[in-house]
Amino acid sequence: MASSSTIRYFLNQGPSLWLLVLVWTVIFSLTESAITIQLKGEAGGNVTFKCPVDNKRTVSWFYFQRGDVFLNGCHASRTIPNPILENTRLEPNSTHVHMFRLNISDSGMYRCIIQYNDIITEDKIQLTVTAPYSKPTATKSCDDVRCLVTCASYGGYPGIKVEWIIPGSRNTNSPPWKVENNTQVSHQSTMLVDSSSTVNFNCSNGELKNLSCSVGNVTSDLFSVCNPEVKPNSYTPLKIAAPCVVLLLIVIAVVLCCWHKKGQTGKDCRENGNKEELKYLKELCKKEGEKEDPVDDFNAP
Ligand SMILES: *[C@@H]1O[C@H](CO)[C@@H](O)[C@H](O)[C@H]1NC(C)=O
Ligand SMILES: *[C@@H]1O[C@H](CO)[C@@H](O)[C@H](O)[C@H]1NC(C)=O
Ligand SMILES: *[C@@H]1O[C@H](CO)[C@@H](O)[C@H](O)[C@H]1NC(C)=O
Ligand SMILES: *[C@@H]1O[C@H](CO)[C@@H](O)[C@H](O)[C@H]1NC(C)=O
Ligand SMILES: *[C@@H]1O[C@H](CO)[C@@H](O)[C@H](O)[C@H]1NC(C)=O
Ligand SMILES: *[C@@H]1O[C@H](CO)[C@@H](O)[C@H](O)[C@H]1NC(C)=O
Ligand SMILES: *[C@@H]1O[C@H](CO)[C@@H](O)[C@H](O)[C@H]1NC(C)=O
Repeated sequence: MASSSTIRYFLNQGPSLWLLVLVWTVIFSLTESAITIQLKGEAGGNVTFKCPVDNKRTVSWFYFQRGDVFLNGCHASRTIPNPILENTRLEPNSTHVHMFRLNISDSGMYRCIIQYNDIITEDKIQLTVTAPYSKPTATKSCDDVRCLVTCASYGGYPGIKVEWIIPGSRNTNSPPWKVENNTQVSHQSTMLVDSSSTVNFNCSNGELKNLSCSVGNVTSDLFSVCNPEVKPNSYTPLKIAAPCVVLLLIVIAVVLCCWHKKGQTGKDCRENGNKEELKYLKELCKKEGEKEDPVDDFNAP
């Protein structure tokens, strides 16, 4: 046979060529693709693994594996029972595998192994499952000298630190703020991460405007710190002012009344206002009048 004579020929050529034959034989039987296909998915979503296939050849069997664990596949001559991984489905007559309801834990390296009549090929597909973080929210807690601001974003993957965007802070050597902490907490079952950070702002330099924080590519609304607190209930000052104004008007009325009494008889007082008030005013005016009388006498020529 040609092949055996070829081998005998190579054997005569020494060990290095014999090695070459071995390598060539391995390549012939299992062609492993050098490149790894990258596939991205989102938690809860779906992806399709498109295992490369040579359509000019006839597929004997197709195995879709994670490591050495068989997940799905097909055999030309016999049917493969239900797939082991229940969230995968094989597209009929194809080497495309759909994966549903992705978990973060589904991230990893997958293998597409195809046996043709003559060769076996293997391609690797790297699945990366991520989860989008919620829009970060900033919560403030201030006193007269400082503001503690906590920025938090939930349910993302992988873990990403909170970034603080504080305009003009790059130019100063000792910025009036300090990052207290920056933590990522991972949920055990879902592996999803909550990311948060707290910054302590020194308010002695006044208000800081247009601040924001971000986690990955999601950014919070702009906010400011150390601003004079504007109470959401803007009617409060009016509510306090109203009784003062009324009191002031009464005082003015009393003064006017007494002043009038000196010239006339204080008729105006009696004609306007209710009885209770009048009684009070009358007495007040009398007293005032009595007190003032001696002074008037003294000043009289
Ligand atoms: C994932 O696939 C399932 C089943 O086909 C479908 O009901 C669902 O809407 C898909 N989800 C997404 C995010 O595409
Ligand atoms: C799959 O291939 C078989 C045999 O080649 C054929 O009979 C069948 O119609 C194909 N099914 C689809 C969905 O293409
Ligand atoms: C971060 O620091 C703030 C202020 O010191 C504190 O209230 C908060 O609990 C800390 N958060 C974590 C996750 O340690
Ligand atoms: C996703 O992960 C959870 C928790 O680990 C597990 O209970 C669930 O079965 C997983 N779902 C799939 C489709 O693998
Ligand atoms: C705040 O800043 C002022 C002046 O920059 C400084 O005197 C003061 O000690 C700082 N306060 C704190 C709590 O760091
Ligand atoms: C804040 O942003 C607004 C517009 O977004 C801009 O008009 C204003 O000048 C900014 N203020 C500071 C202090 O950067
Ligand atoms: C953030 O990036 C992810 C992937 O890079 C993308 O799917 C998402 O739409 C982006 N979100 C925003 C708000 O830009």
